[in-house]
Amino acid sequence: MTTTPLLSVRDLSICFRQGGRETLAVDRVSFDVAKGETVALVGESGSGKSVTALSILKLLPYPAASHPSGTITFKGQELLRMSERQMRRVRGDDITIVFQEPMTSLNPLHTIEKQIGEILLLHRGLTGSAARKRIVEMLTQVGIHDPQTRLKSYPHQLSGGQRQRVMIAMALANELGGRFVGDQQIRRSTSRCRRRSSRC
Ligand SMILES: Nc1ncnc2c1ncn2[C@@H]1O[C@H](COP(=O)(O)OP(=O)(O)O)[C@@H](O)[C@H]1O
Ligand SMILES: [Mg+2]
Repeated sequence: MTTTPLLSVRDLSICFRQGGRETLAVDRVSFDVAKGETVALVGESGSGKSVTALSILKLLPYPAASHPSGTITFKGQELLRMSERQMRRVRGDDITIVFQEPMTSLNPLHTIEKQIGEILLLHRGLTGSAARKRIVEMLTQVGIHDPQTRLKSYPHQLSGGQRQRVMIAMALANELGGRFVGDQQIRRSTSRCRRRSSRC
């Protein structure tokens, strides 16, 4: 039985133009991700894993970056042809990315409560104690110990692993149902929440 994949990357190429020179970083990669499936891209350093992940969210430095070939289809929509405005909606509601270095993705000036709270407000309309309750639940879900205390923590007060877990909680906060592209492996201790969040 064949089922339509949730995400389908076909013949994707990625080219970077720098100082009049063009470098083909990725040469016609294809893969599918089915509903509920976790797919890992494995390859040596510099082989194009990160830029492939970034292409799915169109987060490469265009127009220096370009796609000489390929399509990226998500739920039947061709992402590479979408406008920036349409992509913002996909990034907010459908697909998100957990960056390799979460310190650069979290705002150093805001507490964990505020950062997750903003997403809950934007996507769920939750505020006050209802939002705080949900944030504590989500921090618990991703394996953060003593979540009540962590609400008031700033990113620099957390370990790298805890920051990555906060990023996963933020991905869950908009009730994505967990379609996210993780750059760099998440440690095994986090695999429970990764499995949980890969439901679609
Ligand atoms: N912004 C950029 N400009 C030019 N080249 C880039 C840029 N980002 C990545 N590259 C190149 O693309 C190739 C793939 O990089 P990357 O996807 O980061 O590899 P990895 O598989 O280690 O994640 C590398 O040769 C890298 O130098
Ligand atoms: Mg990488």
